[in-house]
Amino acid sequence: MKRFLASILFLLPLLTVKAQINLRNLRCEMLVNPLSVTAENPRLSWEIVGKERGLKQEAYEILVASDPAKLAAGEGDLWNSGKVETDNSVYIAYQGKRLASNKACYWKVRVYTNKGLTEWSGPAQWGTGLRYYKDWEGRWIGFDRLFPWENAAASRLSARYFRKEFAVAKQVKSATAYIMGLGLYELSIDGKKVGDQVLAPAPTDYTKNIKYNTFDVTEQLKQGQHAIGVVLGNGRFYAMRQTKAYKNNSFGYPKLMFQLIITYTDGSRAVIKTDDSWKGTADGPIRTNNEYDGEEYDAQKEMKGWDKAGFDDKSWLKAEFVQEPGGRYEAQMNENMKVMKDLTPVAIIKKGGDRYIVDLGQNMAGWVKLQVKGKKGQKVTLRFAESLQDNGEIFTTNLRDAKATDIYTLKGEGMESWEPRFTYHGFRYIEVSGYPGTLSKNDITGRLVYDDIATVSTFESSNAVLNQIYKNSWWAIASNYKGMPIDCPQRNERQPWLGDRAMVAYSESFLFDNARLYTKWLDDIKYAQKPDGAIPDVAPAFWRYYSDNMTWPGTYLMVAEMLYNQTGDVALLKDHYPSMKKWLQYMKDRYMTEDGIVTKDSYGDWCVPPVTAEAGKGVNADQKHPSQLISTAYYYHFMQVMMRFCKITGNEQDSTQFAQLAEKVKQGFNSKFYHEEGYYGDNTLTDNLLPVCFKMIDPANKNKVWKNLAYIVEVTNKGHLSTGVVGTQWLMYGLTEIGKAELAYGMATQKTYPSLGYMIENGATSIWELWNGNTAAPKMNSQNHVMMLGDLFIWYFEHLAAIRADARETGFKKVIMKPKRMGDLSAVNATYRSNYGEVKSDWKQVGASFFWNITVPPNTTAVVYLPVAPGEKVYEAGKLVTGKEEGILSTKPITGRLVLNVGSGNYSFEVKK
Ligand code: BGC
Repeated sequence: MKRFLASILFLLPLLTVKAQINLRNLRCEMLVNPLSVTAENPRLSWEIVGKERGLKQEAYEILVASDPAKLAAGEGDLWNSGKVETDNSVYIAYQGKRLASNKACYWKVRVYTNKGLTEWSGPAQWGTGLRYYKDWEGRWIGFDRLFPWENAAASRLSARYFRKEFAVAKQVKSATAYIMGLGLYELSIDGKKVGDQVLAPAPTDYTKNIKYNTFDVTEQLKQGQHAIGVVLGNGRFYAMRQTKAYKNNSFGYPKLMFQLIITYTDGSRAVIKTDDSWKGTADGPIRTNNEYDGEEYDAQKEMKGWDKAGFDDKSWLKAEFVQEPGGRYEAQMNENMKVMKDLTPVAIIKKGGDRYIVDLGQNMAGWVKLQVKGKKGQKVTLRFAESLQDNGEIFTTNLRDAKATDIYTLKGEGMESWEPRFTYHGFRYIEVSGYPGTLSKNDITGRLVYDDIATVSTFESSNAVLNQIYKNSWWAIASNYKGMPIDCPQRNERQPWLGDRAMVAYSESFLFDNARLYTKWLDDIKYAQKPDGAIPDVAPAFWRYYSDNMTWPGTYLMVAEMLYNQTGDVALLKDHYPSMKKWLQYMKDRYMTEDGIVTKDSYGDWCVPPVTAEAGKGVNADQKHPSQLISTAYYYHFMQVMMRFCKITGNEQDSTQFAQLAEKVKQGFNSKFYHEEGYYGDNTLTDNLLPVCFKMIDPANKNKVWKNLAYIVEVTNKGHLSTGVVGTQWLMYGLTEIGKAELAYGMATQKTYPSLGYMIENGATSIWELWNGNTAAPKMNSQNHVMMLGDLFIWYFEHLAAIRADARETGFKKVIMKPKRMGDLSAVNATYRSNYGEVKSDWKQVGASFFWNITVPPNTTAVVYLPVAPGEKVYEAGKLVTGKEEGILSTKPITGRLVLNVGSGNYSFEVKK
């Protein structure tokens, strides 16, 4: 056989992929959630690397062993899949022996391709976590009370410090630490932090489920005496506001469950677990912490050596047993947050005395690291803001009552360096006061904090506005990933509002590898569902808002569909299908009239732009205009989505029922909202977009409505949008659907009000909450929100860059590449990393020639639509395309295009006369 150079890259079970990264030690875990379809079977994926054209997998062989030596010797004592003939290379469910808790599994794979057999991959591993409740041998500890200096009304607790010493008597073979530190923890062994995660674990409704993090700490545990140190912060457990118990969901005082399992080389085992032999104090340096208000750190209170063996903890309290939070224990499969980027200030302005204003040049979320030298007891105060007032002072009114203030008290021992542990801020500017000496750019560093997930794309085009929007959006999206997608990182809100992400999550998926984050979020939504079927507007329901409407809760279905399109994960749809169906039944039972009209909506087309920015001056944007047109249209749309899901998940029995209901809703909708003149409802852009995008229009009326829709954008709006959060989700798709891609392009590249370009023209470095963010009242006016991105990046990638997952062979198993040339756009160069590898599309129009370089990853195919005008010919690598070239599977001319079906590889096309 021809020597074959392709190698196999790793791999990892999806759902578990990033657990590896979280753990930094190539482990992954099984979910303990018995509801999860993957509970028993972690799923394995691999990526084939190779430049060959038309490279594809024909079969695989997986070995899973209980020990690396066995794996190396080719013995799959846990599972030997044998040769399995299939081209599937993602989400392969483990089907070996039943796995016990706290076990490491080692695996490798080799692939039979059409070009030969690959070598065995290098070894990878995953761990099985603590699968059962009873696997946790310790108890929850904490202090379920306030300390005298703490103030519950201000929602500010001191951090709780816990310590435990223990001896390691023998040689350690392996040691694994499991931790549930709520709300947030920092774990150390012998004074060294374990892991590089921050603000962990991911927030959940702790009465429903709790995420535990796992670390391989074998290296840290040599023979001798050791100390475990854990610091606990409030996070979402002790809620940021303790008032309004009917609304703010708070879970109690911070608490800890910890377990360290040591396996010695002689086969014996020791378990260090939380119990009342641990010692604790709340009288350490972190005096207060609160996500909205900031952190106060008094370095004079540092307890030198508290986290190391030999510390005198006589004055510490005995840890107390506390009530367990109630939720089931689950291995965290989504990424923890991390410091992802450091920013150096672009300017530091001295304001007199010891006060400065620092400008990082970028709106973002995280905190700053400070360096300072001064006298013991001196206090440096840091206040954070997104923008400045005209007088050059920071503008904080739009933070509402979030204090966003960190205070550091010096210990006076030379150069001191500090950053907070249990808070974050949304900001570009920092007011530093009380700073001894001269503050220089080296003394203060901005630290961008978000979930440790990869950026999966690049996008450059010939249009500068499109490019800048892509950049601003990257910052906005990153800033708002906080173990869940939140609305904004700065004011006293930071809630996982569903409506903001409806289509936006899909847009985001073209920038970030957000599959595990959104998979976790779907669970959050499912857990938040009430027994009667109601789904909240915010999930986890840290704010208890069950307002019953179609658009916010409906994001549940839309995010699931996005994940299915982008990753091909069927198991996830199966898992959530019953809850979605139940919610739709609930809404129907309560709010649907005999005529199929859904009467209940909450927000309407939230945050539509005022007619002019001037007209919106000083106006509060939080105005609700509930709309039955919106709720009814969405009900119809979700019936279509459910019909798709029925087929995919094997629930065909429900299909007829959904189809019948859909028909009734459509008829009711058209008779109530359609006007003979050719428009819907109040003839707003959104009122017409929804029936177009959801395909609800009677064929006889289609032309009239389409024409009217175009008229609104082109004539009434002079090429601008007039949509709020709901309409904006469908804007680019809708205009493209009616054949007005030019209008979509014009709108996306607009610089005048209202548009994303207008935000940039007015100094935005991320994306505003409001189209008129520069004039609206500050009450609800964040400068770092994502909801107005709508379906924009779907359009960027699927239409402009021409990188789209096929609707049937989802997850980019088959890529549809159909560039839309429009307006003055003459070039797009984009890449997107799918589960199979990087897809590239780089096209440009130079004079009469169209150049297009593409890369199709191994084990996938692409349908490539080359634009060909009469008289033009298509060349590949300089030669006329005949259809016989390696990698080209078939060719088909259609009007204006030559359609090629191609296998993997790099292609370089030119279309010319
Ligand atoms: C949030 C939004 C959210 C809305 C709904 C706002 O305050 O920031 O993004 O969707 O409320 O009421």
